[in-house]
Formats: sequence, C-alpha cells, structure tokens
Amino acid sequence: MKKDTTDMQEAADTMEKTARGPFAPVYPFLAERFYQESELKQGLCLDIGSGGAQLGLAIGKISNLEVIALDINKYALDYAQENAQAMGLSDKFSVLNADVIAIPLASDSVDLCVSRGSFWFWEDGIKAFAEIYRIMKPNAKAFIGCGFGTKEILDKVVEQMQSHNPEWNTKREKLFQDNPVEKFEGYLSAAKIENFTIEDTDSGRYIVFSKIAQ
Ligand SMILES: C[S@@+](CC[C@H](N)C(=O)[O-])C[C@H]1O[C@@H](n2cnc3c(N)ncnc32)[C@H](O)[C@@H]1O
Repeated sequence: MKKDTTDMQEAADTMEKTARGPFAPVYPFLAERFYQESELKQGLCLDIGSGGAQLGLAIGKISNLEVIALDINKYALDYAQENAQAMGLSDKFSVLNADVIAIPLASDSVDLCVSRGSFWFWEDGIKAFAEIYRIMKPNAKAFIGCGFGTKEILDKVVEQMQSHNPEWNTKREKLFQDNPVEKFEGYLSAAKIENFTIEDTDSGRYIVFSKIAQ
C-alpha cells in the first residue's frame, strides 16, 4: 500500500514518540540479548524496519559493531540520524531508505540482522526473508520479530499505552492472532531458510536463524 508524504511523516512522528516514551526500556534489553548471542566482537549490524533505530543504536552503544538502519520511511530515518547524533554514534552509523524486499547491500555482507515490530507490515514475507538471508554473511545471525523483552516490561508498556489509547493492547494481540507462527514458518520454508526457531512467548515473538556456511 503506497502512503502519501503526510501519512509517512505522521507514521514516523507517532512511532518516534512511542519509541522515545513507553517503548524506551525495550530496546536496551533486546540489544543486550541479540549482541551477546551474536558472539561478535566487530562487524556490521543491520536494523531492518528501524524506525528511529533505537534497537540498532542500542547495539551500537554496547559494542564495536557498525550499524545501518534500513527503513522504507525516510522520515523515520531522519529521526534515526538525529538519535545517532544525540548518542554520539554518528561515526559508526548510516541509513538506507529501502524496502526489505530489495536491500541495497551486497550478498554475504552483514554480520547481524535485527528487526523489531516491522515484519507485520512486509507485503511479501517470502521475498523479505530471502533477501535478509542473501545479505547475511555465512554464520551470521538474524533476530526478526516483535518483542518487548520481558513480561514485566510489556506490562508497563501496556499500562502507559492504554492510558491514552485504550484499544492498544487489543490491537497488539490481534496482530499476533492474525499472523500465526505457521504463516512465518511458511515464509521461511519458501525462502529456503532451514535452521530457524520461532520463539513465541508472553512478551512477543522472535524468529531466530543463522546462515549456513556453504
Ligand atoms: C512499528 S514500526 C517499528 C520501528 C522500530 N523497529 C521500533 O521497534 O521502534 C515499523 C517500521 O517498519 C517500517 N517498514 C514497514 N514496512 C517496511 C518494509 N517493507 N521495508 C522496510 N521497512 C518497513 C516502517 O516504516 C516502520 O518504521
């Protein structure tokens, strides 16, 4: 679905307000986990559907990794640049305004792929996962999903979001119901990604896979 400029700006503004507010504790928590499990000392991390890149930048803050934020919405990437500057991370940070189904990066070039809250919106799930797999280096890891870290963090987020948007949690739960795990298993199988696991917990869902070295 093509959005016009005003819609894109509004979507970016709304997401950024949420990311800087109620969602703020989520990113450092996820970043710590993904970075530790990547076992990387250096390399390139791609934050896919980054919004203001709070997740990618949280990884950049605790590591030597370079970070690229990719988003289809260029206004979200303006926030990402602003956030990188505020965190003093601009030297190791860049942005790509692109669709996940056509990532403008070379094959086998990324060490760690992360994504939070974006996969619901990908119009072609098979192409998206195949494209992520293409740009991953052999043995690179990907964490793609929508999570809040822990049930405690999620409960606090729900409380804050519901205070000005009473429908928020119902809509959040509907996203999970409308997009069951089997749907994503189908995308990954069709994209020929074999060794994946899907974690579906009370704090969210994460699809975890690594690229098999040929
Ligand atoms: C709910 S926001 C999440 C933003 C951020 N990851 C976070 O957790 O704060 C979803 C983001 O995915 C982006 N997005 C949606 N479809 C996309 C696509 N096909 N390719 C790249 N980005 C996409 C949106 O523009 C938006 O910034």
